[in-house]
Amino acid sequence: AAIAVDLDAATDISDDLYGLFYEDINHAADGGLYAELVQNRSFEYLPADLAGYHALTAWTATGVTAATADPLNDRNTTYATAAAGATLVNSGYNSGMAFTAGDDYDLSFWARGATEIRAVLTDAAGTPVADAVTVPIDSRGEWTKYEAELEAEADTTTGRLALATAEAVDLDMVSLFPDDTFKGRENGLRKDLAKLIDDLDPSFLRFPGGCIVNTGSYDPGSRERAYNWKDTVGPVEERLTNHNFWGYNQSYGLGYFEYFQFAEDIGAEPLPVVPVGVTGCGDSPEITDPEQLDAWVQDTLDLIEFANGPVTSEWGSLRAEMGHPRPFGLEMIGLGNEEYKEQYYANYPAFHDAIREAHPEIEIIANSGVDDSGDVFDRNWEFARAQGADLVDEHYYNSPEWFLANNDRYDSYDRSGPHVFVGEYASRSNTWWSALSEASYLTGLERNGDVVDMASYAPLLSNIDYVDWAPDMIWFDNHQTVKSASYEVQHLFANHAGDQVLASALDAAPLEPEDIAGGVGLATWNTAASYDDVKVTAADGTVLLQDDFASGSDGWTVTGPGGAPTGAWEVADGAYHQTAIVEDARSTAGSVDWSNYTYEVKATK
Ligand code: AHR
Repeated sequence: AAIAVDLDAATDISDDLYGLFYEDINHAADGGLYAELVQNRSFEYLPADLAGYHALTAWTATGVTAATADPLNDRNTTYATAAAGATLVNSGYNSGMAFTAGDDYDLSFWARGATEIRAVLTDAAGTPVADAVTVPIDSRGEWTKYEAELEAEADTTTGRLALATAEAVDLDMVSLFPDDTFKGRENGLRKDLAKLIDDLDPSFLRFPGGCIVNTGSYDPGSRERAYNWKDTVGPVEERLTNHNFWGYNQSYGLGYFEYFQFAEDIGAEPLPVVPVGVTGCGDSPEITDPEQLDAWVQDTLDLIEFANGPVTSEWGSLRAEMGHPRPFGLEMIGLGNEEYKEQYYANYPAFHDAIREAHPEIEIIANSGVDDSGDVFDRNWEFARAQGADLVDEHYYNSPEWFLANNDRYDSYDRSGPHVFVGEYASRSNTWWSALSEASYLTGLERNGDVVDMASYAPLLSNIDYVDWAPDMIWFDNHQTVKSASYEVQHLFANHAGDQVLASALDAAPLEPEDIAGGVGLATWNTAASYDDVKVTAADGTVLLQDDFASGSDGWTVTGPGGAPTGAWEVADGAYHQTAIVEDARSTAGSVDWSNYTYEVKATK
């Protein structure tokens, strides 16, 4: 085989190619990147949000009830009212809070009544892992914020925050942060996760989603709202919580200010994606009322002012109050996520035109709908061209084979219209094989640097105990992180990006499927159909792997060549092994629909 390289035919690789897609999915924010250790700190989990939720979810409390009379403020309306002698213990996320001996933890809470509150860090058995602190309370009966510091004296990953009171007291916004957050920011981010993200040397940070951008109600009074950035800024105790599309309560403690700050801290261009009053995920209500539409358009202009406006402006002054008088330097904005309904074409122009007129310096990103091709895709591209969008956001989650076969996807794209932002993509597993196919695909994006400006793998983060979607780039629990093979690919490419790609041609016979990993056998089945006796068969009919599902999904008995029983999908002789289990179906509520779920298993040499 020989490779011919043309030294005179070079294409510049986009300087912005490698960036991040961040969505609060899989508890990526609360219980994830957001370093808050207390779950349900504001007692706003409600049964209406999720079966099993109640105001004291994640709390074990005696002598405590939930109350709403005369609350902390009108955006944080439920609080805990504790009788004399009451105790409240918060268990955080996962197995509990992770405390490290020698580290400091910042406690704060709002209280009304009593003269003191006793606070201590414990393990799950209630054994103290820090000296207790007694916080004196001004008992004039006004809601007041109190702060204290606790130092852990032992390690635990099942930690608890325990509060006790000898007198009756009302409590709200009970918060505990590690003192050591990423870049030492207050209300900051978990250091280990933020560092892994920073290590990717991202050129941009797209946030806050994904489906959570435009799903839910556009009514500000609803508990399940589309993402309104204004709900997420200002003092944390005044931020509305939200029941999000992925099925859990979002504190919005990690909000728009924190996203902009994080982008700046990791040297990435901020890229907010805002809703245009219609969803591509599920069947949320749409904005059809012109007055309501105008209000959301104005919110979008206000967001640009929040990011870039002078400190004398209304929203620029809030940014300054929150600790960042300098503008954040917003240069681009995404309008909508995966839209394909008629209302998208009706609503989008109002946002686009208003931004163009007021801020011609801002690049506008339209979207291509929900898939990598098809009628919606063509229509959205045509629409984006006609509107004069600068980029189009394409999303696709496909098999490794698709990524290998579509390396030339952009070779023939029109160079005269909007450029491409591959805003979400992943090869559907967290295996080495998928990561390799992504690496191969990235060479195609680099080769098309004159039309592909930006790309981001998705999703970025997943807490292993709260999985809504897989694969994901970084996995974690309350104290550990695991980088996927896809993370390594992103890290490699982003940290070693070239300036140019030289045209090249390979003179060699193409590999046959059986010559490459993943080519020797494949079984795909869906849980909605009968899936007894799943077989992975090679081209010559040999059964490579077989599972009769006799013992159910928890006790799969897999046989390989020679009939030797093997555990799970690993084959003892190492000749073949599973390479992928993929999800394919999502219920309209956004959670995985386990009764209609597609698995794919490959035998790999
Ligand atoms: O990345 C997970 C989801 O996939 C996103 O929320 C959505 O935009 C896409 O469908």
